[in-house]
Amino acid sequence: MKLIRWIKETAVYRSIFRLPDVETERDRAASHWSSFLMHIYPVKVQRRELRFGYSAFLGVASLVLFGSLTISGIYLMFFYVPSPGTAYSDIQSIQTNIAFGQYIRNVHRWSAHVMVIAVAAHMARVFYRGAYKPPKEFNWVIGVVLLVLTLLLSFTGYLLPWDQLAFWAVTVGTSMASYVPVVGDVTKEILLGGPSVGSATLIRFYVLHVALLPAILAFLIAIHLWRWRKDSMLTVDPPPPGEEPAAETELVIAGEG
Ligand code: HEM
Repeated sequence: MKLIRWIKETAVYRSIFRLPDVETERDRAASHWSSFLMHIYPVKVQRRELRFGYSAFLGVASLVLFGSLTISGIYLMFFYVPSPGTAYSDIQSIQTNIAFGQYIRNVHRWSAHVMVIAVAAHMARVFYRGAYKPPKEFNWVIGVVLLVLTLLLSFTGYLLPWDQLAFWAVTVGTSMASYVPVVGDVTKEILLGGPSVGSATLIRFYVLHVALLPAILAFLIAIHLWRWRKDSMLTVDPPPPGEEPAAETELVIAGEG
């Protein structure tokens, strides 16, 4: 503890973290809003909002999984070329020759599966709590788009190993898309880049998977979190008319134990 206190008093530490000495409630609040990472949270929140039982941290879990997918995906991009001649062998090589290749590929696959479950469960939790009601209806709509993007990321990633499973899954998936009235055939043509799955499809899915969809998802997540913060964080049921808020709805101040 003495060492930590000594480090915190050094000029180097103070030049990086310009925090006041925490003595009063106001100091505590000031150290909170002057921090880059912490200022997204309000200075005061209701204690029960922070409980695991309230939100099961499913939105946060979805966010962490998106982070895990981004980091593991960037690693895989170093060793994968999206061309029919190399895609399959690149995946084999990642599995066998590349340092941590099999591990990182599994992290990427499992994070993708678990993210789909986490996002769907988060949506169910939001519905159960009635958190889609005004003023949060806009965030609900953004959330629906986030779910669709998450599913599209899974679908586009499925083709990249370029094996039989991937080939036929995308053949079936895009054939299903062609049954959508009016826009079906055009959508299939745009996705495949030709009459059937081929090299044009692979590069299209790759660009969608590593650039376009993640960029839109990251942008919308930023809006989602900003809206969540502005709409006073989580939805907490108000006490019945005429009743005082229960003790557990007391406010906690940033930094308090
Ligand atoms: C990539 C997917 C998503 C991410 C990363 C994400 C992230 C988050 C986070 C971190 C929170 C606050 C904490 C929590 O509730 O756990 C939140 C709240 C919320 N999310 Fe999501 N979310 C996603 C998808 C969705 C979906 C699919 C919906 C619904 C269709 C949705 C609707 C909402 C709403 C309405 C809130 C406010 C909850 C409240 O007021 O209690 N989100 N989201």
